[in-house]
Amino acid sequence: MTPGLQSVLDPAAPDAAVIAHLGWVLFIGGTLIFAGIMWLLWRSLRHQPRSVRTRAWIVGGGLLFPVAVLTLLLAYSTWRTAQFGTQGSHGALPVSVIGKMWWWELRYPNPAGGPDIVSANELRIPVGRAVYLGLSTTDVIHAFWVPQLGGKVDMVPGRIHGLAIRADRPGVYRGQCAEYCGEQHARMALHVVAMPQAEFDAWLAAQARDALPPANAMLQRGRDAYLAQRCNACHTVRGLGSGAALGPDLTHVGSRMHIAAGTLRTDHAALAGWIADPQAIKHGARMPGAGRMDGETLRALAAWLESLK
Ligand code: CUA
Repeated sequence: MTPGLQSVLDPAAPDAAVIAHLGWVLFIGGTLIFAGIMWLLWRSLRHQPRSVRTRAWIVGGGLLFPVAVLTLLLAYSTWRTAQFGTQGSHGALPVSVIGKMWWWELRYPNPAGGPDIVSANELRIPVGRAVYLGLSTTDVIHAFWVPQLGGKVDMVPGRIHGLAIRADRPGVYRGQCAEYCGEQHARMALHVVAMPQAEFDAWLAAQARDALPPANAMLQRGRDAYLAQRCNACHTVRGLGSGAALGPDLTHVGSRMHIAAGTLRTDHAALAGWIADPQAIKHGARMPGAGRMDGETLRALAAWLESLK
């Protein structure tokens, strides 16, 4: 799957279509008015009029025209934006989206009961179905914005904001934190993957499972290094004893397209590079470097993480 361009001009959801439509109306209207004014300016410079009806121009062009245009625009935009989020949030799938410096935690209710299914940086949703996002943050203000699916909504400390989204076609939609939140605000991307309901159900069931045991000696070495390095002081790999939620849940990190919130494509080399020196890739991130770790162990650790599908 390849993420498309992050674009407001290619809506894939009802709310995004409303926003794109409004944008086009404003752009075309503004262009026509600008062209009209330029034409008047050109005429007034070219021809010296015999008599100018100053009063009519001031009242008509400076008062009546803007009042009429702005009133129409206000009525039109109020009518269109009143349609936001109403396209069937009923029976929606609830997902918690939690903004962190500088990544996203996602929590899905477990269909089989039990604790939430936790993931990071990649929001998977069933296509054609309403998804109700509970947006919150555990540190500073962030903002959820996936332009192809809808408008942006702030994530404010101490509050939970709701946003209903619905993707009309399958695809990968790039989103971006839209509120300045510190040094790595620009590298706080999110990908929304819209997939058919059956595929989504299968994906969710797989995500609910614990990590599989290592399949060979090299992966075993990687898992041992994970525990020896005390990675679980910040991360969780379910099925591997206690963990923490300071960093992204890594139980199925190998199944995600990116690491470090959209910064790098998930592969062996990216994982090894990130573990060795995350500060060189994303300065200021909470993740410390691996310090003294020999190359063989580092490769084994990266391979084990990549194997966590
Ligand atoms: Cu989070 Cu900007």
